[in-house]
Amino acid sequence: MSKKLSVSRMGKTFGAIIEGINVATDTDPDTMAEIKGLWAEHQLLLFRNQDLSEEQLVAFSRGLGDLEIHLRREYLSPDNPEILMISNIKDGDRSIGILSDTEVGWHYDQIYLPKPAVGSMLYSVILPNNGGQTSFADMAAAYDGLSDDMKAKLEGKKAIQSYAAFNAQFSVPTNSKQKKMSPDIAQPLVRTHPITGRKALYICPGMTVQIVGLDEDDSRETLEFLFDWCVRDEFVYTHDWVLGDALLWDNASAMHRREPFDSSEDRLMKRTTILPPDNIATPF
Ligand SMILES: [Fe+2]
Repeated sequence: MSKKLSVSRMGKTFGAIIEGINVATDTDPDTMAEIKGLWAEHQLLLFRNQDLSEEQLVAFSRGLGDLEIHLRREYLSPDNPEILMISNIKDGDRSIGILSDTEVGWHYDQIYLPKPAVGSMLYSVILPNNGGQTSFADMAAAYDGLSDDMKAKLEGKKAIQSYAAFNAQFSVPTNSKQKKMSPDIAQPLVRTHPITGRKALYICPGMTVQIVGLDEDDSRETLEFLFDWCVRDEFVYTHDWVLGDALLWDNASAMHRREPFDSSEDRLMKRTTILPPDNIATPF
């Protein structure tokens, strides 16, 4: 570890606050290599008191991997398409961002894609006075805590992930072109982290609809058990946003959700989505 960065625990089992870094300017290869290691190790990194232009957010994120242009093209920043706007703010009749002010249920970003993003970085720009917290669940700790019998039952199983199911509950439907880009897909139910080798539950209440190979009742009951299990207090960290916070999470071992907030207040978050190197991109 360099002398510059300091790391302190944030959640009970995961998450770290990283101090001694200016995300706007500290993008040299040594710092980025260090951040990559901490990101895999802690799953969730918080950088406080940042003041970032869109270009600086993109530059730092690009130091972690190639960036995705999100398929929800209508919610991209007009100036920087690598940035997805998450907001309830309107410009006339048009929402400038996705996800409005309502609850957003537990999900893994992009679990519905064949090569899901390795992570997302979310930067707070405008915050409401109340609500809008983002919670994260440590799905590696949740897997570790399962009984040996349950681990054996899940071994080698796949589960069906549905972006359509998520949108029906928490967002707006995709258009027909976007639907074609995001059909339901089977992914490993237990995912091995491509860098640390640690196993994590790779399911989420918002998008996982069925376990392949189990009958309907068994699939439903098993998923209900697992969904309750992985959001127990011991596995969850809830982040109360402060302006200038930027959070970077590991999308192979942490799922997240958002609290609703008062629709009379504005909230604007800017997100980059980081793609994995191709050789470790397919979940296994
Ligand atoms: Fe998300």
